[in-house]
Amino acid sequence: MSQSLTIALSKGRILDDTLPLLKEAGIEPLEDLEKSRKLIFSTSDPDVRLLIVRATDVPTYVEHGAADLGVAGKDVLMEYGSQGLYEPLDLKIAICKLMTAGPVNTPEPSGRLKVATKFVNVARRYYAEQGRQVDVIKLYGSMELAPLVGLADKIIDVVDTGNTLRANGLEPQEMIADISSRLIVNKASMKMKHARIKALIDLLAAAVERHA
Ligand code: ATP
Ligand code: PRP
Ligand code: MG
Repeated sequence: MSQSLTIALSKGRILDDTLPLLKEAGIEPLEDLEKSRKLIFSTSDPDVRLLIVRATDVPTYVEHGAADLGVAGKDVLMEYGSQGLYEPLDLKIAICKLMTAGPVNTPEPSGRLKVATKFVNVARRYYAEQGRQVDVIKLYGSMELAPLVGLADKIIDVVDTGNTLRANGLEPQEMIADISSRLIVNKASMKMKHARIKALIDLLAAAVERHA
């Protein structure tokens, strides 16, 4: 069996923050990923290639074995459900918090709460644990708009500086989870390519420590 590795990443902050770690592990793309329209890239290691996929699709590629490894936010993994994947390393990048947020100084409605989010599974679990009845409304982005136009009472989204909430008259409320991005590994790959993957995890773990 070949010991070649395919790694799934998403463009933007995950790519920006993962490339320096991969470089320290001896893996550098042979061209500028942000400039190219290609989705598969060769690297300085002839046995390693990179795939560019949407952030929420990374666990899908890895669970199905289309990629051996990937980098995904803990928020995405909480929503996807990570039983089908190994999650051996916290890369300590793309750090933020998953929170509820709502309009500033606005009391909660007495009846059923309407919550807009792209994290519908997380939202249902969170409010079920509190015994709270909610209507969860699925959105794909710009969640902050929902309470401003009466689509929802609250949102669940990631918060970093809080600037996006503030700019829209919203405030962070309940903390759901601390978020950072994780290295994820396909379960079969971890068995079949164990030495190769273990070596990469160790190199990345050392790089993460140097960046801490
Ligand atoms: P897409 O652009 O495909 O809709 P996305 O918005 O989730 O996906 P990114 O914004 O690149 O993609 O976010 C990737 C990950 O980075 C998220 O899953 C989350 O863990 C983290 N993240 C998102 N927003 C922030 C932020 N403002 N600061 C720090 N980390 C963030
Ligand atoms: C993310 C997230 C929030 C914002 C939070 O959006 O969806 O809107 O960051 O960060 P802040 O607390 O520092 O404002 P992103 O920048 O990824 O834009 P996107 O809408 O393209 O996902
Ligand atoms: Mg984003």
